[in-house]
Amino acid sequence: MSRQLTAPSTIDGGSVQVRSLTYPDLPEVMSIERRAFPTPWSLAMFVLELSKSSGICLAAESAGRLAGYLICSRYETVWHVMNVAVDVGQQGRGIGSALLAALYERVADPDARYTLEVRRSNDVAIHLYERDGFRPAGVRRRYYQDNGEDALVMWRTPDTLAGGLGDVPNPGASW
Ligand SMILES: CC(C)(COP(=O)(O)OP(=O)(O)OC[C@H]1O[C@@H](n2cnc3c(N)ncnc32)[C@H](O)[C@@H]1OP(=O)(O)O)[C@@H](O)C(=O)NCCC(=O)NCCS
Repeated sequence: MSRQLTAPSTIDGGSVQVRSLTYPDLPEVMSIERRAFPTPWSLAMFVLELSKSSGICLAAESAGRLAGYLICSRYETVWHVMNVAVDVGQQGRGIGSALLAALYERVADPDARYTLEVRRSNDVAIHLYERDGFRPAGVRRRYYQDNGEDALVMWRTPDTLAGGLGDVPNPGASW
């Protein structure tokens, strides 16, 4: 599914396009990844995710260059957003929002459940996810090895979109 040919989504009057991520994008992905994260993914991790036929991997392109990407894996009935990043000079233009919107559009299932982990200190990402209907539903203690920071586990489900946590597994869990 990661290489499916679907119509690209656009923002900024069409200057940013969201399309499927492909293997030739990976050198630019690695550059953005290294600028965006203190502990970047390896190339092998991206290759593995792109090789999964059930996942959705998206690229946001601006002026012919990669501006951001999103990696989402499917585990049975749950979509796990594994990685989202927008290049440092391109943040705040709506590209992260557009990548998430394109993900929901491609999953095309109103009952879909999405989950992700995010650093507790990552206010911008948490704001973006909450604005999109994700809700914090648990904590993974010392999840990030570089500084021992906790991860907030967030879910976006039919119930979180309606203001509850009824269809979220183990809400409030800490492990
Ligand atoms: C998190 C990230 C993907 C968001 O992408 P983005 O393209 O910058 O986000 P958008 O422009 O779509 O903005 C989303 C929201 O965050 C807000 N926002 C964006 N950058 C902001 C900043 N620097 N300070 C405060 N708010 C900010 C926007 O105003 C918007 O909120 P609004 O709709 O209520 O106005 C991007 O900042 C990023 O790549 N960060 C580094 C990597 C990272 O942390 N990834 C997430 C890992 S879980």
